Amino acid sequence: MGFEIPPAVATLLSTPWRNTTFAILPLLFVRHCVLRKPTRPRKVPKIGERVLVLGASSGVGRTLAKQYVTRGARVCVVGRRKALLDEVKRECYGTMPSLGSSSQDVLSIAADFTKAEDMVKVRALVEREWGGLDTLVVSAGVSALQPLMAVAGVEVKRGETMQEASQEGIQRAAEIAGAAVQGNYIGPLVAAVSFVRIFTPSFVIPTEIPLLSNTSKAPSIVLINSLASVIPAPTRTLYASTKAASLLLYQALSIEHPNITFTCVMPSTIEGDFRASAVDSGLVREKDPNKHGLKRDDVARRCIRAADYGEKAVFMPATMRFGHLLYWIWPSFVERRAMKKYNFSA
Ligand SMILES: NC(=O)c1ccc[n+]([C@@H]2O[C@H](COP(=O)([O-])OP(=O)(O)OC[C@H]3O[C@@H](n4cnc5c(N)ncnc54)[C@H](OP(=O)(O)O)[C@@H]3O)[C@@H](O)[C@H]2O)c1
Repeated sequence: MGFEIPPAVATLLSTPWRNTTFAILPLLFVRHCVLRKPTRPRKVPKIGERVLVLGASSGVGRTLAKQYVTRGARVCVVGRRKALLDEVKRECYGTMPSLGSSSQDVLSIAADFTKAEDMVKVRALVEREWGGLDTLVVSAGVSALQPLMAVAGVEVKRGETMQEASQEGIQRAAEIAGAAVQGNYIGPLVAAVSFVRIFTPSFVIPTEIPLLSNTSKAPSIVLINSLASVIPAPTRTLYASTKAASLLLYQALSIEHPNITFTCVMPSTIEGDFRASAVDSGLVREKDPNKHGLKRDDVARRCIRAADYGEKAVFMPATMRFGHLLYWIWPSFVERRAMKKYNFSA
């Protein structure tokens, strides 16, 4: 049986209508994007929204927590450095709309998102104080900056024969990879298992009611991932592969839990101190992120907007959605650009 084009579509595709149709379609698309209203705030009002930010002691997570507080949300900030969390809490109180705010509106708890016992404590806190959660933001992550063979102690020089990695070098590479897996994959996994519970009608297993699924009218999980997950880059072998693992984890989870909106944000370089968290330490090769990176404020604002609109994938800058596709069409071009960006030659 052949596929038949409906007569209305056939008319639009026939000359002279075709040119008009192709001119109007992009305009309609732009109009749709501009006029579209977020649907989530109708179900979860901005004022009083219960937001948990993992990785809020610095960077994007810290900025995002303050932006949420400014618009009236209740926020729980999590990180390992308690002194910094206390600072964030003070800053949040400073930006809070005073009307009707209470001390339970900003919570903080020092916790490691790779540790089950810590996440269970965080879960108990938000359950006790707020009775549940609306939005979980996973911003925590660790950087890794060196070419893989450098991690194994092998220097690769142009025109010279490469040495073999020693047993200690191979072991070191495996251990550093393990630290990257912990910070970029196990952390998001532990967070997901702690806060995403399968939607289970309460009359079946009353004690296992999902925290996010059953307590929010529109549960949302935002994963701050990286463009490196979808566009490969030299010196980012460990970082990119471990971030890619958590990206796929959350994308697959979103199919297993259609009642929760999963948003994966993939920014390029952002201003700040992220490189200090590198599990392999050492040289930063690219241009100064503080001069050339995305602004933390912009990334945080975009994450909040994406959660409001229920977007699934956000690329920053937006054109990088096509950079990703370009890699599959013309990989050598993208590889050359990546080598330039990371000041790498082989
Ligand atoms: N900066 C960039 O150029 C860039 C680019 C693309 C994507 N990203 C992604 O954006 C996210 C945020 O980066 P950022 O620039 O804001 O980095 P950042 O300033 O280093 O912030 C990372 C946050 O994660 C927390 N964290 C790290 N490991 C943790 C753990 N085991 N348990 C709990 N908290 C932990 C840190 O707090 P404690 O140390 O106090 O625990 C800190 O608050 C990361 O996932 C990163 O991969 C960054």
